[in-house]
Amino acid sequence: MGIELEKFIFFTILVHMVCGQFYAYNDDPYNLNNLGSRISAQVQSQVAPLQGLGERINAQVQRNLQPLQSRLGELDGLGDRISAQVHKDLEPVRAIELNFKMRDGVGGTTIVTHQPSGRQFIYNNYKPFICKGTVDIKTGTCSGDLVPFEITSSSPQTDWCYLRSYSLINNQICIGLKGVSVTSFNNQITCKGVGDSPTFTSSLDDYKKLCSEVSASSEYRYIPDVNSPQHVAIPNQNAHVKCENRDKNLCIFHENNSLLNTYSTSNGFQYYSTGNNVNINVGGTY
Ligand SMILES: *[C@@H]1O[C@H](CO)[C@@H](O)[C@H](O)[C@H]1NC(C)=O
Repeated sequence: MGIELEKFIFFTILVHMVCGQFYAYNDDPYNLNNLGSRISAQVQSQVAPLQGLGERINAQVQRNLQPLQSRLGELDGLGDRISAQVHKDLEPVRAIELNFKMRDGVGGTTIVTHQPSGRQFIYNNYKPFICKGTVDIKTGTCSGDLVPFEITSSSPQTDWCYLRSYSLINNQICIGLKGVSVTSFNNQITCKGVGDSPTFTSSLDDYKKLCSEVSASSEYRYIPDVNSPQHVAIPNQNAHVKCENRDKNLCIFHENNSLLNTYSTSNGFQYYSTGNNVNINVGGTY
């Protein structure tokens, strides 16, 4: 038997063994513990029938296996290391969602205070309210009526500056009270509020002029309702959850109004959106 054929047979067996191993454990993908040892044991048991196939093949296989077997030990604990690493690598991604939930008072209450105007809102499960009384900053409760924040045609335009659900397409901003659906087709931009709720459109420059005086930054105080299944646990195991304080069941953080530091570019099409219920449909040629 030529050496090339031996190599081919060995390679085929090896591929079969290793692939078979992965398929065999596929139905339990999380149980990767001692993977190296298990592959090694499997290699040994699959090699056993070869013993009678002839000294030369066997010797060749053994020679080829030796470096492999010594390397397989390095895979021990790989499963745990992969799981731990994946978990850790995903932390910043999962924190984005948690920070958004805290901003919107999901599973609790968030007191939002805008500067420099000092305007205060209470967010409860995505909905903004105004407290007609005083807000207890420890519990988030309002001593008077809690009325939904509405924007009508008689509201001051600056009321739009307090909302953080918007889209920016090229130089055009669209803000919605309850979310927006924005369609852009060959640079014609239409902005529609969710369920015919009101919207505000403006150029980026006009927005900056209007809003820098009322909402350049905001403070968030999130107080979780620990009985709500939606709540974000504070303190949180995720190190990227951005509380600036160290209290239990209170997370304080600040954000700048990022639109004030956004600049439109003259070349090409760009869009950006953030917040709840913001949908962008883009079509046409650019
Ligand atoms: C907001 O902007 C100010 C001034 O540019 C900066 O010092 C501060 O770190 C920013 N805060 C956040 C939370 O990004």
